[in-house]
Amino acid sequence: MTELLQDKVALVTGGAQGIGRSTALAFAAQGAKIIVADVLDAEGEAVAAHIRQLGGEAIFVHCDISQSAAVEAMVARAVETYGRLDCAANNAGIEGEMSPCADCSEENWDRTIAVNLKGVWLCMRAELKQMLKQGGGAIVNVSSVAGLVAERGFPAYSAAKGGVIALTRTAAAEYCKLGIRVNAVCPGVIHTPMIDRTLHQMDLTAMFPEMRRSVVSRAIGGLLSRQAWFTNAMTNFIEPMGRHGEPEEIAQVIVWLCSDAASFVTGQALAADGGMTAT
Ligand SMILES: NC(=O)c1ccc[n+]([C@@H]2O[C@H](COP(=O)([O-])OP(=O)(O)OC[C@H]3O[C@@H](n4cnc5c(N)ncnc54)[C@H](O)[C@@H]3O)[C@@H](O)[C@H]2O)c1
Repeated sequence: MTELLQDKVALVTGGAQGIGRSTALAFAAQGAKIIVADVLDAEGEAVAAHIRQLGGEAIFVHCDISQSAAVEAMVARAVETYGRLDCAANNAGIEGEMSPCADCSEENWDRTIAVNLKGVWLCMRAELKQMLKQGGGAIVNVSSVAGLVAERGFPAYSAAKGGVIALTRTAAAEYCKLGIRVNAVCPGVIHTPMIDRTLHQMDLTAMFPEMRRSVVSRAIGGLLSRQAWFTNAMTNFIEPMGRHGEPEEIAQVIVWLCSDAASFVTGQALAADGGMTAT
């Protein structure tokens, strides 16, 4: 049986851990040759080595996606190594510091936007140029439910993720007649190092005392019981299925959006959030 991405070349930014790592592995499992890009060299090299050990093809490229020269070099390296670029998951991102709008520092704002919004645009710009030369490709930008609904305490993050959705739609409209599809995925709460860091930043007790008893709280400290979580309306909103998502569940959405199985899908912001934004 043919794999979904047989002989395709796929780039994943932020591929060293979390959703990006799972995406790199899922791309490889579908037959793609992988470029893992990240600022974490040891972890990124390990992901590429793991794919090779499994019989796949992969390289690691150090790249800070907020730097245009580094992004251009990353795409150039992909093309030098594998000859083309078919799929790109623009996944790298940071949560920034937790601070409501009135307290958000300019430095926090600028860095969060530089990575999460400008970085995605820099990656898309370089990827699109290559895909235009080839006559096709598929891009998936990793946004967030924070781009669809408010994420209190993370204004720069929310603004960036909303911006990624607008950017995705614009690029999709610009290139849909040229064989390039551009979509966004909007994950809900996914169990990764980022969500652990984010939850650590939140003073959950101050915001919602009941959240101390939630499954979200369990993720950061293993506090109280699962039954208590089900009684909590706030956490029912965040995790309607009664659980967080796993990075592999986002990776599968990205694989599908990059594959020909999604050939008529472009310009979409697909929430993969266990029903969070539907409730
Ligand atoms: N985990 C969640 O609940 C969740 C929810 C919604 C959206 N997201 C988004 O999913 C994406 C992946 O998140 P994650 O949870 O796997 O996070 P993570 O922190 O576990 O992994 C992010 C990866 O991106 C890399 N990275 C950060 N800044 C970079 C830069 N400037 N250049 C290159 N690489 C950089 C990190 O080194 C890391 O390997 C992010 O865009 C995040 O905003 C995550």
